[in-house]
Amino acid sequence: MKNVHVLDHPLIQHKLAIIRKTTTGVKEFREIVSEIAMLMCYDATRDLQTRTKTIETPVAKAKVKVLAGKKLAIVPILRAGLGMVDGMLSLIPSAKVGHIGLYRDPVTHEPIEYYCKLPEDIENRDVIIVDPMLATGGSASAAVTFLKKRGVTSIKVLNIIAAPEGVEKLMSDHPDIQLYVAALDEKLNENKYIVPGLGDAGDRIFGTK
Ligand code: PRP
Ligand code: URA
Repeated sequence: MKNVHVLDHPLIQHKLAIIRKTTTGVKEFREIVSEIAMLMCYDATRDLQTRTKTIETPVAKAKVKVLAGKKLAIVPILRAGLGMVDGMLSLIPSAKVGHIGLYRDPVTHEPIEYYCKLPEDIENRDVIIVDPMLATGGSASAAVTFLKKRGVTSIKVLNIIAAPEGVEKLMSDHPDIQLYVAALDEKLNENKYIVPGLGDAGDRIFGTK
């Protein structure tokens, strides 16, 4: 599908296998989510603009490339998205971070917003939304709509695991965004959990169950 990128690098896939396992504990789960976020960040930023400038090495003048273009903002969807922020910031340390709090209503599975704090100049930034799970797509789509209402025009979404239903919804609601996933799973179950997935990402990152 156009604008959907599956990041099937062997290191990402190996780490993903570890976090899918029921027996992986909270410490390792958290660390690996962060590592996967860093690897996904590396791939998802390969189209960032650069400009050439001249510097001096100890030996000679050299033409080098440095980042140009719009500044970046990372926007995790609370809670589980928080687990990806440090990994993203390890590669883009000067990015600003905004937060959007959404939870899925346990009965309707619709996203409910409960918090939002974004950088003041968010409309001038390239925004990368992060959340480990794209299930029905309701949360990610709502977050993108929210950012567009704030004037943001350049949006990427990074999810570790996606269900086909979520990809379909997100990309039909917002065909102009770029979506990066590490795995496209089989389906959603009757509780709208991703199959095989990894369970509840928020609970596994924060140890709440
Ligand atoms: C999870 C996940 C996503 C959302 C995905 O969050 O982190 O935000 O579900 O589901 P969707 O694609 O069907 O909207 P959850 O609602 O469990 O909240 P939490 O992060 O606070 O646990
Ligand atoms: N949220 C999760 O944390 N896991 C799923 O499988 C679906 C939604």
